Amino acid sequence: MEPAIKYRLLKTEKHTGARLGELITPHGTFKTPMFMPVGTQATVKNISPDELDEMGSQVILANTYHLWLQPGPDLIEEAGGLHKFMNWDKGILTDSGGFQVWSLSKHRKLTEEGVHFRNEINGDQLFLSPEKAIGIENKLGPDIMMSLDECPPFFESYDYVKHSVERTSRWAERGLKAHAHPDYQGLFGIVQGAGYEDLRRQSAKDLVNLDFPGYSIGGLSVGESKEEMNRVLAFTTPLLPENKPRYLMGVGTADSLIDGVIRGVDMFDCVLPTRIGRKGTCMTSRGRLVVKNAAYAHDFGPLDPECDCYVCRNYSRAYIRHLFKADEYFGQRLASYHNLYFLHNLMKRVRQAIWDDNLLELRESVFEKYGYNAE
Ligand code: GUN
Ligand code: ZN
Repeated sequence: MEPAIKYRLLKTEKHTGARLGELITPHGTFKTPMFMPVGTQATVKNISPDELDEMGSQVILANTYHLWLQPGPDLIEEAGGLHKFMNWDKGILTDSGGFQVWSLSKHRKLTEEGVHFRNEINGDQLFLSPEKAIGIENKLGPDIMMSLDECPPFFESYDYVKHSVERTSRWAERGLKAHAHPDYQGLFGIVQGAGYEDLRRQSAKDLVNLDFPGYSIGGLSVGESKEEMNRVLAFTTPLLPENKPRYLMGVGTADSLIDGVIRGVDMFDCVLPTRIGRKGTCMTSRGRLVVKNAAYAHDFGPLDPECDCYVCRNYSRAYIRHLFKADEYFGQRLASYHNLYFLHNLMKRVRQAIWDDNLLELRESVFEKYGYNAE
């Protein structure tokens, strides 16, 4: 059987661990490194699939947890799967629900079998096991699925994280056994281990032995410093096979994307561009711009003078500020569109820089303009 997901390494950058490659899926072949917009409820908030396509989105995310509760996997299966249901014919990746249980539910109980928790909206008692998560993901029908994992806090004790990593490995194996469609859906294992090098090594070793078609790196961007994240990435990516894609979960700031790519990451996702866009915060080549600020009331220039997106070609800061002040949804749409385009465009420049072997120069110029300390 041919695996559903394959990775082709085209080139490694001369001075860093950055990889230029292709992610081959049942819904197309996509360029990596890539940023993936998040569409938790089978919609990237405020952005249509046509707009996603036009701005260069390749793979988008959806969430097992949310779609399980509403409208339910049976309805999405009845619709013909997520791609048809939401009218998106490129890549879809679903997270397993493990992370959402941890971040959204205050009342939960973890056992070897799975996790019991409460739906905070209606008080229902719920249970998610590795098999159940895979069963839901099989019905949703994304190209890429995640194993159920536990994401412990970054500064949790060594003993706790050790037991947690061992359980996440057993859950990954159970998920793999339960997976009904390995021929058209690729299941990734999620490397955990917080900041402990030997636990990350153990986690990676267990998962690599199970031979997943790709590997996620979880448990990062959960409150630790950027230096800590870079330290963990530097020793984690070399533990993963060269011929498989690597996905850093939940990372979406310009500097972290570049620093992740430098350490050999191929895929990223984050709610950040759409979440801050809805509040009127825009990612620009000169750092974040809060478009509601009075300073932009008479500013008829684009959000970002260096951006050539639909929004920056057609609308001014003054107009978008007005929309936010007047509580018009179109402002949220324009800011979200621009922010997603900004990250896609950044990744396009990163891919070119890998090809040209000048990624460190790109990093320096981006960091300098953005206002980060480029070291
Ligand atoms: N999203 C961000 N981090 C994580 C993680 O560690 N696990 C899962 N399943 N999803 C995530
Ligand atoms: Zn723009």
